[in-house]
Amino acid sequence: MTGGAKGWRAMEHRVCVAPMMDHTDRHFRYFLRLIAPRVGLYTEMITAQALLHGPAERLLAFSPSEQPVALQLGGSEPDALERAAALAASGYRYAEINLNVGCPSDRVQSGRFGACLMAEPALVAECVAAIRCGWPGEATVKTRIGIDSHDDYDFLQQFVAAVADAGCHTVIVHARKAILKGLSPKENRTIPPLRYDVVYRLKQDFPSLRVVINGGIESMDDCRRHLSAVDGVMIGRKACSDPCFLRRLDDTLFAAAERPAFSRAAVVAEMADYAASECSRGVRLHHITRHMFGLFAGQPGAARWRRYLAEHAAQPRASARVLGDALKNIRLAA
Ligand SMILES: Cc1cc2nc3c(=O)[nH]c(=O)nc-3n(C[C@H](O)[C@H](O)[C@H](O)COP(=O)(O)O)c2cc1C
Repeated sequence: MTGGAKGWRAMEHRVCVAPMMDHTDRHFRYFLRLIAPRVGLYTEMITAQALLHGPAERLLAFSPSEQPVALQLGGSEPDALERAAALAASGYRYAEINLNVGCPSDRVQSGRFGACLMAEPALVAECVAAIRCGWPGEATVKTRIGIDSHDDYDFLQQFVAAVADAGCHTVIVHARKAILKGLSPKENRTIPPLRYDVVYRLKQDFPSLRVVINGGIESMDDCRRHLSAVDGVMIGRKACSDPCFLRRLDDTLFAAAERPAFSRAAVVAEMADYAASECSRGVRLHHITRHMFGLFAGQPGAARWRRYLAEHAAQPRASARVLGDALKNIRLAA
């Protein structure tokens, strides 16, 4: 499980799923790939220091079927980022390395990285250049439209110009600013207003840069509207609450290829096989099934499915059979 020497796929930015701590782990990505074969996937943020001093194999390994998947790094020390990127290059077939310049948490700020780095464009440019030294593939940046009182367009434009000069050809922009003191990370995802117009303007000013827009995207109409102005859409929370939304996007926004009709029951069956294999290696069932709560969102029996999984998969000896039982349970209820 190294991302596979075979089957490498270039990153898909037209529709991708946002990096989310505690969500976009390898189990969730495996599950999403069964639902949406083409969308791009991102890891949770992994700090360069965690990779250099922690269990790198456990942090980096992924199933070849997840591809294309991008690794998101956190950090602000060019040397450490270069070494972390080189580690990722040493046998893990990621499609891209992305630098987190958008997270506003106190923990991240105390390490002097995440969103606060927007105030230091020269350092971010050095970080991008360092990643590119350690890594032969694409290096990208995920950022906000501003931080605190630095929220005028010129500030964002200068930041983006600096990272583009360092060799970053794709920027992902969460279309709200971050407020570094006084708002929690969760509040920073809802309270500062969304300014999609700012991201559209960025694309107009940097036509050769790939610009991916993120923040509050929840419908097909939202995606169509954004894709007429920028190159890609990144979906975060909606992918957790209603993962089948990604299937609708995948079916609609990519050139149609012949493939079998989508079935949630088939996804459950494949996940049961996957869970059996993972549990035999010591993974707790709940760590896999917690990502599947939203599979039946909007369908009859959705609440029952969720409740059944929450109650039964967390039992100490729970086995992958819980998934089949949960499915029977909602069929009986339907
Ligand atoms: C639980 C959670 C964890 C997140 N973790 C990360 C992270 O590790 N790296 C990152 O760049 N953004 C992180 N984000 C922010 C998302 O990538 C995204 O920018 C944000 O949720 C806005 O997109 P949405 O409105 O589609 O959810 C996180 C968001 C959530 C909800």
